[in-house]
Amino acid sequence: MVEKKTEGTEVSEAEVAVHWKEEGYYHPPRDFIAQANMTDESIYKRFSLENFPDCFKEYADLLSWDQYWHTTLDTSDAPCFKWFVGGKINASYNCIDRHLAKYRNKAAIIFVPEPEDADPVSITYQDLYVRVNEFAALLRDFVGLKAGDRVTIHMPMVTELPVSMLACARLGVIHSVVFGGFSGQACGDRVADSKSHVIITMDGYYRNGQLLDHKQKAEEAIKIAEKGGQKVDKVLIWQRHPGKYSSETKLVEGRDFIVNDLLKKYVGKRVDPVPMPAEGILFLMYTSGTTGKPKAAQHSIGGYLTYVTGTSKYVQDIHPEDVYWCMADIGWITGHSYIVYGPLALAATSVIYEGVPTYPDAGRPWRIAQRLNVNIFHTAPTAIRGLRKLGPDEPAKYNYRFKHMTTVGEPIEPEVWKWYYKSVGKEKAVIVDTWWQTENGGFLCSTMPAIHPMKPGSAGPGVPGIHPVIFDEDGKELPLGSNKAGNVCIRNPWPGMFQTIWGDRARYVSTYFAKYNKKKDSKDWRDWPYMAGDAAMLAADGYFRILGRVDDVINVAGHRLGTKELESCCLVVPEVAEAAVVPRNDELKGKIPDVYVALKPGVKPSKEIEEAVKKAIEENIGKFARPKDVYIVPDMPKTRSGKIMRRVLATLSNRSDKVGDVTTLMNPEVVEVIKKMVLER
Ligand code: PRX
Repeated sequence: MVEKKTEGTEVSEAEVAVHWKEEGYYHPPRDFIAQANMTDESIYKRFSLENFPDCFKEYADLLSWDQYWHTTLDTSDAPCFKWFVGGKINASYNCIDRHLAKYRNKAAIIFVPEPEDADPVSITYQDLYVRVNEFAALLRDFVGLKAGDRVTIHMPMVTELPVSMLACARLGVIHSVVFGGFSGQACGDRVADSKSHVIITMDGYYRNGQLLDHKQKAEEAIKIAEKGGQKVDKVLIWQRHPGKYSSETKLVEGRDFIVNDLLKKYVGKRVDPVPMPAEGILFLMYTSGTTGKPKAAQHSIGGYLTYVTGTSKYVQDIHPEDVYWCMADIGWITGHSYIVYGPLALAATSVIYEGVPTYPDAGRPWRIAQRLNVNIFHTAPTAIRGLRKLGPDEPAKYNYRFKHMTTVGEPIEPEVWKWYYKSVGKEKAVIVDTWWQTENGGFLCSTMPAIHPMKPGSAGPGVPGIHPVIFDEDGKELPLGSNKAGNVCIRNPWPGMFQTIWGDRARYVSTYFAKYNKKKDSKDWRDWPYMAGDAAMLAADGYFRILGRVDDVINVAGHRLGTKELESCCLVVPEVAEAAVVPRNDELKGKIPDVYVALKPGVKPSKEIEEAVKKAIEENIGKFARPKDVYIVPDMPKTRSGKIMRRVLATLSNRSDKVGDVTTLMNPEVVEVIKKMVLER
């Protein structure tokens, strides 16, 4: 996947990052260390490769198992690894039931509606238990769902989303949560791929001050799913305001059901959590890759829950007394692992905020933190950049106190890191910069907050039990402090790792393992390093600095988009003949997609076509993917064999002169034309 990278942009990314100067250390405050869950460095010894894989029992023992496993790691189908084989466990039980004796009346979730005049709503563990049981009864008895079935959940950030997920988990039903910002079409593709008969959705939700009609997306999703060969029998619709239908979209008799009405029949119902094989599937999570087709990372029950619980406890430093707020969306992996499963498995209080961080102003997050007494805060560089730009002095106005903060999802610029540390953390909180991916279940690299000093812009070493390495193109290991960028890989499997790509084992092997695997039939995990698809550098102190993707993936404001996915949307516009999408650096979003299209012969460029391309992307993927600029070019810069030179376009998009030697192109003259066009925008 990476070898033919002349078309990618990793070189320029790496160059940029290499020119960052090495930053100094920031040490964790004493009072943080005094209360931290993990202060003992010997954890690294316990989780060394010598003790692999049994070391992970330490994390697994944080959970309540119905039955212990007989085999910690089964490699017989490598690189599809099986963890805790023979074990039986239920995720819903672990996140709810087992906490009741001690924490029945403690808030499990605090829901913060976007409209600021609506008070936050606390859901105790007892209440979560009741809601999950009643909804699970409905799913089982009304819908007829059973272990192994798939359900697509397309919902906003509301309490009913984790309730739906945990109800599925209680029954062993596999949930596939699709980010609420995805369009109906994107949702439909995922319904078809996962073969879900059921969609769980909500009528509407608040975003940027508006009550959006969300149910309408289900109509589109169903049409697209049907085209893809999947019929949807039932749509279950939660009401954003119970008792009132907040959507303009009509209900279809016999197919659409209002959950809040149906639930009346299930009052008081209890459903025994189904003891599931540890190797059962908890959920699918779609993500973007190098082809247009979205792929679902398939996550296990026992291994995944073990890993997110361990890392939540030690890297997030979650105690049951903490009020923990991760401002990600549950529709992405961060939300699954570090809003729902990890924090709830530890009996924490997890805050769910419905809306945009800067609504109605950039002081909102800090008002929420002040009101709820949040002490652990978790967000992404893109949000930090936005809050810094719009309200650099806002945090100082509010009386909250974080002990711990996280950044995740993109590289964070040292300048931005320092604002986060000084202004948001008030120099009293530790920061962990956690590097990982949808495929990984949980953190791969990060400092351990009470053990290591922090270094702005660097994630840190591998977390316990994760043994990262940087390989060059030929599989040679780059030593500590080499100051060279290479492909970051993980030497060993770990319990949170995805099991495969749903329905596409070949793609799983070729994307993540083929490049560095030397023995195709090997059953030894040592022969199967996991290739993340990121470029990274390893400093002399063992800290990894992640530079960005080496494949055709663009990380837009922490949302992962495949360039091929975007390009195929452009081709939906009838006038468009060819499309190329490249990443452009953006002050707020990290990267944004720049779109280049060439039109069919005889078609004249127009603003309408540009708009049609933007619209096609919005409809096929979602508004969050809408590009800022669409350039209609007379021709794409191409190699003599006819391949579009995306590298050249990316360089132009980033206003750089370093296009390199273009004389070998089939049409070098077009580069100047495009350059002029870009500079004039
Ligand atoms: O490029 C890396 C970047 O986000 C990608 C994974 O995106 P996704 O699967 O959507 O998961 C995001 C949240 C886990 C990675 O391949 N990335 C993630 N975390 C960091 C990062 N880049 C730099 N620093 C990070 N801390």
